[in-house]
Amino acid sequence: MTGRILGTGACVPSYIMDNNEIAEMVETSDAWIRERTGVVRRHIIHEETTVSMACEAAKRALTDGAVKAEEIDLILVSTVSSNVIAPCTACEVQRELGAVYASCFDLNGACSGFVLAYNTALAYLCGGIYRTVLVIGSESLSNLVDWKDRGTCILFGDGAGAVVLRAEAGDAYLPVTHSDGVKGVALACQSRLTASSEKCWDHADYYLKMDGQAVFKFAVKKVPEAVEEVLEKNHLRKEDISWYLLHQANQRIIEAAARRLREPMEKFPINIQEYGNTSSASIGILLDEMKRDGRLQSGQKIVIAGFGAGLTWAASVLQWP
Ligand code: COA
Repeated sequence: MTGRILGTGACVPSYIMDNNEIAEMVETSDAWIRERTGVVRRHIIHEETTVSMACEAAKRALTDGAVKAEEIDLILVSTVSSNVIAPCTACEVQRELGAVYASCFDLNGACSGFVLAYNTALAYLCGGIYRTVLVIGSESLSNLVDWKDRGTCILFGDGAGAVVLRAEAGDAYLPVTHSDGVKGVALACQSRLTASSEKCWDHADYYLKMDGQAVFKFAVKKVPEAVEEVLEKNHLRKEDISWYLLHQANQRIIEAAARRLREPMEKFPINIQEYGNTSSASIGILLDEMKRDGRLQSGQKIVIAGFGAGLTWAASVLQWP
């Protein structure tokens, strides 16, 4: 068995924050942010929440795939930044959609989350356990970012991406997944529920802390390795691959990965200029954008690859239906 993508959907907040607005908050500039990251603007929640964006992206994916809410067997949401802890975000989506027969849970895979959620969905589909699965990545990183820290606040944005998958006959591609908890300190954020004598909401640990250079070096090495590994595992050559959809963290990371893989940049679509790093939402948003503008053609093989907090990194191959 394998899983076929029936529909895609995305949702980003209506408020757009450009680099100049960030330069009013911290010592930076539009030119510096563009040059070092590729980000020009990002969408930031005001009225929206992680749950509301997940619901909207899900509705759009279901409409796109002509799938009824009652047909969904599993709703899987990848998020590290939900406005709800319990019930889980996936159950909130279920309630909003009326997906009464779905089983629901969330997954914390940070910026590898979309790939990990996709792999999990595929395992259930291939195992014959479920027939229709909704996979969503939804994040409000703006809630975790320290808006006084120019090393992180320039990078991130909010949004959600979703795909709906259905089991079908055929062979699934094998995924590649890795984790290295020893290096987790490079990108970390404490829960605001941490037992502490100083219950101070402004405590620095409650904001995302990042060793930017360490994460950069990790990504530039591990992402191409994971891509090579997933190709080898599935007996595929680079010529077989039409697109490499990498997690949109930094344009320079994507360019470096392309160089190491000796593949042309044209095969690495980029939309970070519009959204910044939306963590587990980024690949879903990009897939939806490419589907809608006609870049994705039937039969194309696509590598998706994520990396981030954990540290974690993962790659999978999918064939566009
Ligand atoms: N604006 C202006 N100057 C800045 C700045 C900003 N926003 N942030 C840092 N600087 C300064 C530094 O203080 C430093 O100054 P100095 O040379 O006088 O000490 C200089 O710019 C270079 O800093 P550095 O940290 O080496 O920059 P960089 O090229 O590594 O870029 C990141 C910083 C964060 C953009 C980059 O490291 C990065 O993108 N890392 C990966 C992060 C990531 O992808 N995280 C998510 C993974 S899912």
